[in-house]
Amino acid sequence: MARPHGNNSAASVRPDDRSRGADPLAARREFMAKVVALACGGLATIPPVVAGLWAFLDPLRRTRGAASFLSVADLAAIPDDGLPRQFPVIADRVDAWTGFAAEPVGAVYLSREQGSREVRALSATCPHAGCFIDLEKATQCFRCPCHNSSFTLDGNIVNPSPSPRAMDELECRVGGNGQVEVKWQKYRAGIAEKVVQG
Ligand code: FES
Repeated sequence: MARPHGNNSAASVRPDDRSRGADPLAARREFMAKVVALACGGLATIPPVVAGLWAFLDPLRRTRGAASFLSVADLAAIPDDGLPRQFPVIADRVDAWTGFAAEPVGAVYLSREQGSREVRALSATCPHAGCFIDLEKATQCFRCPCHNSSFTLDGNIVNPSPSPRAMDELECRVGGNGQVEVKWQKYRAGIAEKVVQG
């Protein structure tokens, strides 16, 4: 004769299940511990994600408004007669994540007085709308062909001209090796103030 079986469901309950069922406080504590562990795990992932984003966006940050001294000419190539001469500005262009080999990014007019090592640099970019300014040897002045702005050889406006300000002067230095370096910077067009283009 078969022996009667005991209660199956009661037999399958493990001791720790029973203890949890018996102690709701312990179960709540265990639940809270899991929540805290999850939250800490989530927080731990934030620094690496932020660092990754920073590194990813860094090229954008560096290319905005970045200005650097670029070598544009040898001092000997600038006659010391006070008359401006045009020189191209060559730079390795970086467009966000893409780098381009050295190429012309603009032009400057350089001049210096007799016997002086001090060089004056004017940007060839018109402050009116960004066209390229020519040097008119016949009239001894600068002229922008787009809307006819005129400037003296010092870069001051000759009125009437649509340009809202004088030509943009750029920082310039001469190295011990005689290399003339210009701080290449673009400024916002169409406004009276000289504001760096971001
Ligand atoms: S862009 Fe030079 S006058 Fe307009």
